[in-house]
Amino acid sequence: MNKRSVLLLLACTTVSVYAQKGKKTSTTIKPKSEFVTELMGKMTVDEKIAQLVQFTADGTITGPKSGTNWVDEIKKGNVGSILNATGVDYTRKIQKMNLESSRLKIPILFGYDVIHGYKTIFPITLGETASWDLEVARISSEVAAAEAAASGVHWTFAPMVDISRDPRWGRVSEGAGEDTYLGSKMAFARVMGFQGKNLHDLNTILACTKHFAAYGAAEAGRDYNTVDMSERLLREVYLPPFKATVDAGSATFMASFNEIAGVPSTGNKWLMNDILKGEWGFKGFVVTDYTGMNEMIAHGYAKDEQHAGELSLNAGIDMDMVGAIYLKYTKKNLEEGKVTMAQVDDACRRILEAKYDLGLFEDPYRYSDAKREKTTIYKKEYLDAALAAANKSMVLLKNSNNVLPLKQTQKVAFVGPLVSDEYNIIGSWAASGDRYGYAVSVQEGVNKLVTDKNKVSFTKGVEIKDTKRDGIQAAINAAKNADVIVAVMGEFENQTGEAASQVNIDLPGIQKEFLAELKKLGKPVVLVLLNGRPLTLSWENENMDAILEAWYPGTMGGDAIAQTLYGVSNPSGKLPMTFPRSVGQVPIYYNHKNTGRPYLGASDPEQKYKSRYTDSDNSPLYPFGYGLSYSDFQYSNLILSTQKLSANGKITVSVDVKNAGAYDGEEVVQLYVRDLVGSVTRPVRELKGFNKLLIKKGETKTVTFEITPDDLRFYNIDMKFVAEPGDFEIYVGGSSDATLKNTFELVK
Ligand code: NOJ
Repeated sequence: MNKRSVLLLLACTTVSVYAQKGKKTSTTIKPKSEFVTELMGKMTVDEKIAQLVQFTADGTITGPKSGTNWVDEIKKGNVGSILNATGVDYTRKIQKMNLESSRLKIPILFGYDVIHGYKTIFPITLGETASWDLEVARISSEVAAAEAAASGVHWTFAPMVDISRDPRWGRVSEGAGEDTYLGSKMAFARVMGFQGKNLHDLNTILACTKHFAAYGAAEAGRDYNTVDMSERLLREVYLPPFKATVDAGSATFMASFNEIAGVPSTGNKWLMNDILKGEWGFKGFVVTDYTGMNEMIAHGYAKDEQHAGELSLNAGIDMDMVGAIYLKYTKKNLEEGKVTMAQVDDACRRILEAKYDLGLFEDPYRYSDAKREKTTIYKKEYLDAALAAANKSMVLLKNSNNVLPLKQTQKVAFVGPLVSDEYNIIGSWAASGDRYGYAVSVQEGVNKLVTDKNKVSFTKGVEIKDTKRDGIQAAINAAKNADVIVAVMGEFENQTGEAASQVNIDLPGIQKEFLAELKKLGKPVVLVLLNGRPLTLSWENENMDAILEAWYPGTMGGDAIAQTLYGVSNPSGKLPMTFPRSVGQVPIYYNHKNTGRPYLGASDPEQKYKSRYTDSDNSPLYPFGYGLSYSDFQYSNLILSTQKLSANGKITVSVDVKNAGAYDGEEVVQLYVRDLVGSVTRPVRELKGFNKLLIKKGETKTVTFEITPDDLRFYNIDMKFVAEPGDFEIYVGGSSDATLKNTFELVK
């Protein structure tokens, strides 16, 4: 039993109970296990199966059309959960309809994709991860939970913790990027944010860790595509963020659409029963992804729906999202001995326990308070938190001649398709977030900040994808009169997210041509990017004076961009994913293997028979962990407390970081380790620690990390998770390219 369950069990005191008759009484609700056992004792097989069934309401449709009439099914008492119904009024109506038809008055659980905010939208998850700030991640999930819970939602389908090394995959925007260590820390923080200290608190919701597993490793970055990998890679790189959320108490998991080595996750007993519920001791429930069960037929793994239902229940899948298979075939599978009653009971119990934890048996309407909904949504403190998160997410990719920050005295021409955008700026999958009239555009943010409005102009010039040229001249005219040009460009929000993979990750349309026109004016050009994936920016890097990666920064995005451009906020974000020079380098990631023929670059005496491209450098354009600041951070004195690490010892690593610049600023100090020789080869470096801290101008801070043998463990040749004695290198710096180095030995 995890800590949360113990707390909840102890917390079962006298409360106002929504009794079986449908009226409020003040009975004492029994402790969870007793309560659920008693309830299940009264339930028929059909009623138990109903708990395993989820349908979508008519809200946002987040998958293929389902043929089922969900209202009829609720009236027949066939539904345990509904997704895509939000708002107090709507969810209350559905709950009422359910309670009127449910013999035992078992409340419906409402789920929704609350990914990076509910109404107050925070930066997309990839952007927020660029903050490398765990408190930012926790708070944004906390705010999202508070708003969603006030609006009748009990359960979010987040965090998405899929590691991905492929920017072609549209869903990289929803995750924490390419690194396991950073991704695990973020995943933990997000679950803590959504679920708080106690799921019974009215401002918390159930988290759902997704997509289990390895969904981000889809071949060629094409969504829903095949995954095949060694168990070692799966366990070392892809699974740890999932495990981190189990440690954080995540209440639910979602199976991924993909197969791994020929087995679709929805039917993967090894993943669900053996690893998740067995090895990791997960006590919550597992839901399929949208029609994931039915899709096992197309995968060629199930011969028909009944078979898919059998495979899923045997694998340890507890709830069927939208597919209607559990509803239609579980009884038949029971009768034919394909599944057991113990399996149905186990799934049902897990789901009922989650409902209990939320307090739904005490009062199914406790998340249905219209007044609370009104006073909670868009609270000032939430908007402030969203602004802080957006500011911390900005990554400064280039800043020649300190063209940034802009000065109030300068005339600035703001141009580009996203300059006054209020739609795309909050990003894809922005839950119930309002766009027009709510999201702060760059134009609005700049106008709030500049003292003399005559010094700024705003002209679009071109569209995002459209190739019409008729707007260009007006923008050029405005730019001619300026001291600096700022081009706000990027992708449509729906170019990333689900089912949004691309083979081309350049700036779309004629935006680059437009930039070339602007450059001809001979003035400094700053490029501000709104997008949800690493883009290929080689030309832009050559030709632009400054580049600011703003991602989709959310409701307060325009304010954050303006504050960053004008130096009210000093950028401190670092890339959570490698930016390639060209799409041909993909998959590209910092913690790759060395190979037997590593290419040493232009100085390598052997230029041909090396692991290299003949038409491109191997190195990325911007490495993982990279990001500039208006400050100038200098690293020195990388000292280890000992050069010999014993099996139960530790090393304290210290480094001095000086802010030699003219601005106070935050730096993300990163520590990487390389294990030089192993029973299986190890990556060229791996992130093992980071610390984001404020360093005032002129100040030097000593940053320390601790390394123990536990940090050096990996799956050895016998698939044992151990640290092998031998030599290691340590690198500390402001990116994965850090050069400051020291060494130690792990001794027996
Ligand atoms: C499909 C997506 O893959 C998943 O992330 C999402 O939670 C569900 N649809 C529900 O909308």
